[in-house]
Amino acid sequence: MENNKVQIFDTTLRDGEQVPGCKLDTNQKLIIAERLDLLGVDVIEAGFPISSPGDFTSVNEIAKIVKNATVCGLTRAVKKDIEVAAEALKHAVKPRIHTGIGTSESHIKYKFKSTQEEVVRRAKEAVSYAKNFVDDVEFYAEDAGRTDNAFLAKICEEAIKSGATVLNIPDTTGYCLPEEYGAKIKYLKENVKDIEKAIISCHCHNDLGLATANSIAGAINGARQIECTINGIGERAGNTALEEVVMILKQHPHLNLHTDINSKLLYDTSIMVREKMGMFVQPNKAIVGANAFAHSSGIHQDGVIKNRETYEIIDPEEVGVTESAIVLTARSGRAALAYRAKNVGYELTKVQLDLAYDIFLQYADRQKEVVNEDIHTIMKEVNKTSKIA
Ligand code: KIV
Ligand code: ZN
Repeated sequence: MENNKVQIFDTTLRDGEQVPGCKLDTNQKLIIAERLDLLGVDVIEAGFPISSPGDFTSVNEIAKIVKNATVCGLTRAVKKDIEVAAEALKHAVKPRIHTGIGTSESHIKYKFKSTQEEVVRRAKEAVSYAKNFVDDVEFYAEDAGRTDNAFLAKICEEAIKSGATVLNIPDTTGYCLPEEYGAKIKYLKENVKDIEKAIISCHCHNDLGLATANSIAGAINGARQIECTINGIGERAGNTALEEVVMILKQHPHLNLHTDINSKLLYDTSIMVREKMGMFVQPNKAIVGANAFAHSSGIHQDGVIKNRETYEIIDPEEVGVTESAIVLTARSGRAALAYRAKNVGYELTKVQLDLAYDIFLQYADRQKEVVNEDIHTIMKEVNKTSKIA
């Protein structure tokens, strides 16, 4: 495999969909899966087949229609889960079973009331069992973010010996700092025997707002798969946002890492997911938020009108947004008003602009935003005043 490609593993339909309020029916999931395939993701985690008959059907139907991406189903380290996932994935061109177990002290002690030895035994058994059904088996060490590195290396080594093709290192609770998470990946690269036989995957949650930073730190330190969701939806504060990692790698070519995502489809995909899930996206969300390419202060607007790159590091067209927005508010200046007036057909002289700007400020102080309709009304007032004068 090409060493500077980072595979994109999309879990919108699994980790994203398990969020309260985000539930989708099979038809909606099929539409999203088709779109993800078009977007260019490498892996679609379609669901957790044993969790419900509905999820089984969705994974099964998605497996039938996806043409390019690997289709993956989640399981616990439980034989029945693995059998059901294999059955759900049987029509996939490229099926993957994603199996694993909690590895941190708190998972082993409190969730399983078990021991490290027993957890290693179950991990090996699950991976070996999954290999009876598919070649491509991803092993996850749940709560790897809080797992002791030496034990994590041991269980990863055993997973590789059992046939794992991908090692998922989830920061399940979103606890790690980027340096720490990056160092964890580096430690695994340096201490797991035969690590080159598997791809290391980052699966980061956003409890401290660090999911994207941690995933990038992981990739810089040798991970070659990032697990993420559209709009960053997912358990609690969410998962790593797909659109963020894709654009970070694109905007920083010196990292020498890339994905195969068609970034021009990012915005439309974001809209599709928010509409289907009924999940609102904050306006200041990076890349796909309503304000991501909107400029409202006079100083910024003046800069952007003169040269877009003054205040924009991404060309909006790169992510499928038609153009930057110059929003008219009480903080806007004359340059912005002249620009917006020109867009709706008024080429203003200096005198007209001065007059229009005074009227505009009265509007802007009364309302949150001055819209095109207001500009036409302002221009009528300007023309009246000019005639009287
Ligand atoms: O966050 C997590 O640890 C997970 C695993 C099940 C992969 O979602
Ligand atoms: Zn997760």
